[in-house]
Amino acid sequence: MRWLDVIASEELQSGQILTVEREVGDVVVWRTESGRAVACDARCPHQWAHLGTAGAIDGDEIVCLSHFWRFDQEGTGSKLSANGRRDEKSPVDTFEIRERDGRLEIAVPD
Ligand code: FES
Repeated sequence: MRWLDVIASEELQSGQILTVEREVGDVVVWRTESGRAVACDARCPHQWAHLGTAGAIDGDEIVCLSHFWRFDQEGTGSKLSANGRRDEKSPVDTFEIRERDGRLEIAVPD
């Protein structure tokens, strides 16, 4: 595993989603409303909507606005019913991420 530079940390504000194209494919980096940086595959596992354009941050989750599947910081998928029940959905792949010297880096396989 090695660390891959993706973006300056200050370029990613809370509640923001940015797409980065890297050798591992399209990745979205996003920051929860509480300030934690997260990186995951850009494609929603439901019908492949691009989370960089069809995604929104809701609290500590990213929501795919195509059909409202949501993913937490570990990539666990779910969907909320009208009465608030949380149903399990397929996960999205995530990348380990760190902030170092003002940059965000993701862990990728060698
Ligand atoms: S494509 Fe993302 S929820 Fe359907």
